Amino acid sequence: MKKYFPLIFKSLRFILRYVTKKLHYIACRIILYGNGVDCKRIVTYGIPFVSVAQKGKCVIGDNFTMNNNTRGNPIGRVNRCILFVDNGAELIIGNNVGMSATALVAQTSIRIGDNVKIGGGVCIYDTDFHSLDPEMRKDIARDRINTNNKPVVIGDNVFIGAHSTILKGVTVGNNSIIGACSVVTKSIPENEIWGGNPAKFIKKITVE
Ligand SMILES: CC(C)(COP(=O)(O)OP(=O)(O)OC[C@H]1O[C@@H](n2cnc3c(N)ncnc32)[C@H](O)[C@@H]1OP(=O)(O)O)[C@@H](O)C(=O)NCCC(=O)NCCS
Repeated sequence: MKKYFPLIFKSLRFILRYVTKKLHYIACRIILYGNGVDCKRIVTYGIPFVSVAQKGKCVIGDNFTMNNNTRGNPIGRVNRCILFVDNGAELIIGNNVGMSATALVAQTSIRIGDNVKIGGGVCIYDTDFHSLDPEMRKDIARDRINTNNKPVVIGDNVFIGAHSTILKGVTVGNNSIIGACSVVTKSIPENEIWGGNPAKFIKKITVE
């Protein structure tokens, strides 16, 4: 029995994973549809958190992959992907984009190009979430309307290392790479690797 236990365990796990993947797919489709998200083919592990406001816009291109649990994302610090789009804001994701445990919070605009790889635990914010003025922050309503928001643009073929945070107003040029655990406060040109906190230029990428 001891000899066969791993075989039985792995077989049952395979079946369970197959069934839950199908159920998660159905749940994900319902959530995306209910939020009015315009999307095509998706692959999902686990169920994301999606919140698109009445006057928010979310468009996702073809062949979108989302890892929302340990199976799809064995990277550590696992959580669900979060797609949050406020009233009047937009979140536009291109074709063939993959993300793991990623939070995308759009108060104005986040645009992600084609073939972008977004590592585990990445956060992309186009907002500071709070005013810089301590008086404003005492009042939720004033705090909210006095928060700085600036669009974020991620170019085609960008690779964002795990646990990085990209802040408001940043544009990342095509093909560029952001090292793991970076905090990106300034725009990054095309074909460069940047990393650290705050992210700095590391080296150029040679594109064939
Ligand atoms: C950025 C990265 C791609 C660079 O890889 P590389 O080309 O092999 O670069 P090296 O390891 O030779 O490092 C080059 C320099 O960048 C620095 N560096 C590398 N990664 C860095 C990071 N994340 N933050 C800050 N500096 C970094 C190195 O210390 C080195 O500095 P030095 O020249 O002063 O010695 C890689 O380090 C990285 O962060 N990969 C992301 C992994 C990841 O998160 N994957 C997603 C999982 S979901």
